[in-house]
Amino acid sequence: MTKRFGQVEALTDLTVSVGEGVTGLVGANGAGKSTLIKILLGLLDPTDGTARVLGHDISSQAQEIRRLVGYMPEHDCLPPDVSASDFVVHMGRMSGLPATAARERAADILRHVGLDEERYRQMGGYSTGMKQRAKLAQALVHDPRLVFLDEPTNGLDPAARVDMLHLVQRIGRDFGIAVLVTSHLLGELERVSDHVIVLDGGHLLRSSATADFLKHTGGLLVEVIGGDAERDQLGEALARAGLTCHPRGQLVAVDPPPQGLAVHDVVRDTAADLGLALVRIQPDQAHLEDVFMSSSTTAGAAAPGGPA
Ligand SMILES: Nc1ncnc2c1ncn2[C@@H]1O[C@H](COP(=O)(O)OP(=O)(O)OP(=O)(O)O)[C@@H](O)[C@H]1O
Ligand SMILES: [Mg+2]
Repeated sequence: MTKRFGQVEALTDLTVSVGEGVTGLVGANGAGKSTLIKILLGLLDPTDGTARVLGHDISSQAQEIRRLVGYMPEHDCLPPDVSASDFVVHMGRMSGLPATAARERAADILRHVGLDEERYRQMGGYSTGMKQRAKLAQALVHDPRLVFLDEPTNGLDPAARVDMLHLVQRIGRDFGIAVLVTSHLLGELERVSDHVIVLDGGHLLRSSATADFLKHTGGLLVEVIGGDAERDQLGEALARAGLTCHPRGQLVAVDPPPQGLAVHDVVRDTAADLGLALVRIQPDQAHLEDVFMSSSTTAGAAAPGGPA
């Protein structure tokens, strides 16, 4: 699909599919993440193209889609003079739950998201963390099969971020609800997502299983006992042995070796020759941020799903 707002092209010829489990939708500010979610909910019309959500067409069956889907919007959208408890019950009723069921579901879900006694207070007085929890609760109250979570960690402190990510993971794994969650922080999505979709300026940059993103690079991290001097001594000797090395903190990062070089043996023998004590040799695993950085520089050429 393509979506234009006047001169601005928010999504360009995007073709992508989202499966079960937790899918991270990653991209910088303005990449088109929120626009995609709003189109999938039927809140915006695409300029061109179409999509299906749980088998329903976005243009003709938006109401059915909204019955099956929960939505946590990006921006503050909570009425300030209502308690979370009343609000979530109300949203449950709006989704068609009978009064008693809505009250029970609301109490359950507010407990799950970690809003305790505060749930009886007016939401206008909530902290950002409490507002995010209330927004999450209303997205889940009608027992959806799929939820769209638009930047659920926005505005949270590091501890609250970890809690929120843990909740997102539980929604996907324990409750069996498919999740599409957005963030501009790649590092936090790599921990909770089964699949990652990267948008860049409205273009699909990549869509692959998180494990494929993180396939190890073939490089190594090496640690020896001692300080910077010992680290550099090892690094220089490894360089003389034909390896490309960089200091990384207290470690020596060894780039993937040329074909045929038994890199573990070279590291062991080099350390032994220098009389250095090896603490560890471990695979240097890529992180999503590395992948994103390297593929961003070749945005036009990167094939979706291609190798990092
Ligand atoms: N209603 C609108 N009218 C005009 N332009 C819009 C509108 N909504 C979005 N855009 C533009 O479309 C592009 C994508 O915006 P979108 O909000 O989808 O990005 P995003 O990835 O969610 O960014 P963020 O991380 O900042 O939330 C941006 O250039 C934005 O300015
Ligand atoms: Mg957004």
